Amino acid sequence: MNLEFANKYGKWALVTGASDGMGREISYGLAKRGLNVILCARRFELLVEISEDIRTRFPVEVQALSCDLSIEADIESLFLNTKDKEIGLYVAAAGFGTSGAFIDSDIENELNMIDLNCRSVVKMTHHFANELSKKKKGGIVLFSSLVAFQGTPYSANYSATKAFIQNLAEGLSVELSGSGVDVLSVAPGPVASGFSQRANMVMGSALDPKEIAEEIIAAIGKKSLVRPGFLSKALEFALKSLMFRSFRVQMMKVVMGGMTKHQRAGLNIEKNS
Ligand SMILES: NC(=O)c1ccc[n+]([C@@H]2O[C@H](COP(=O)([O-])OP(=O)(O)OC[C@H]3O[C@@H](n4cnc5c(N)ncnc54)[C@H](OP(=O)(O)O)[C@@H]3O)[C@@H](O)[C@H]2O)c1
Repeated sequence: MNLEFANKYGKWALVTGASDGMGREISYGLAKRGLNVILCARRFELLVEISEDIRTRFPVEVQALSCDLSIEADIESLFLNTKDKEIGLYVAAAGFGTSGAFIDSDIENELNMIDLNCRSVVKMTHHFANELSKKKKGGIVLFSSLVAFQGTPYSANYSATKAFIQNLAEGLSVELSGSGVDVLSVAPGPVASGFSQRANMVMGSALDPKEIAEEIIAAIGKKSLVRPGFLSKALEFALKSLMFRSFRVQMMKVVMGGMTKHQRAGLNIEKNS
């Protein structure tokens, strides 16, 4: 229990993407600090399991809410279902990525990614920024990425969604400063979670979401950008050492090329690029 943290960001935190990866681990970390948590994702059974586990470990209330945030009506019903809760922290961890040649991608899936990674985050951030600034306290945590800071071949649309979020968070952290609402952008490198499977990527080394959750929570209210874990910082350092953005894009072509299963299977990405 951390009284100062719970007073500023309680009584409730809403965590999207709470059924897996960073969202799940952050939910545990917030409960440990005394916040009640609303867990949101599509897989309700997983959310119920996690809720029960959190309740057995920490003296907090937990609510599981199943919703598909790429669907506008589900976001509206989330607002309705949570309107009686005093939400002080919105953690937007729901998101997914894709990999491979853009021209071979399923365009509906790519557009759905924009709906989830960008559209839902704008709608929910607008809602909670309004609510929180009325109370003059609270926090918003958005998920950017290492790939947000330059174009990323073989994950071009995903990296564009993350550049969108990075810019949104950066702008809002200054715009809302003085309103009592803290905005944090989280920009991790590779993290071992459900992400790589859905994105069809292979990650050589990856961060443990449990280990970086603490660093992410500790940055709330203290920083506007966190690159959690040694790997995120090392990769940022390596990319920054390349003087020109165009060189970084070429470097990301090599990095993402190595993580793209489509290319590893010897298919035609290199030939056509
Ligand atoms: N993992 C990485 O390497 C990495 C690196 C940088 C940034 N990020 C970003 O960090 C965030 C968290 O990633 P993660 O690694 O924790 O991923 P993850 O383990 O795959 O978790 C993603 C979460 O989002 C939920 N979700 C997916 N589609 C949804 C939808 N339509 N509606 C509601 N919830 C949905 C998933 O739950 P359900 O399937 O149950 O809906 C899951 O709880 C994402 O925004 C990701 O882009 C990840």
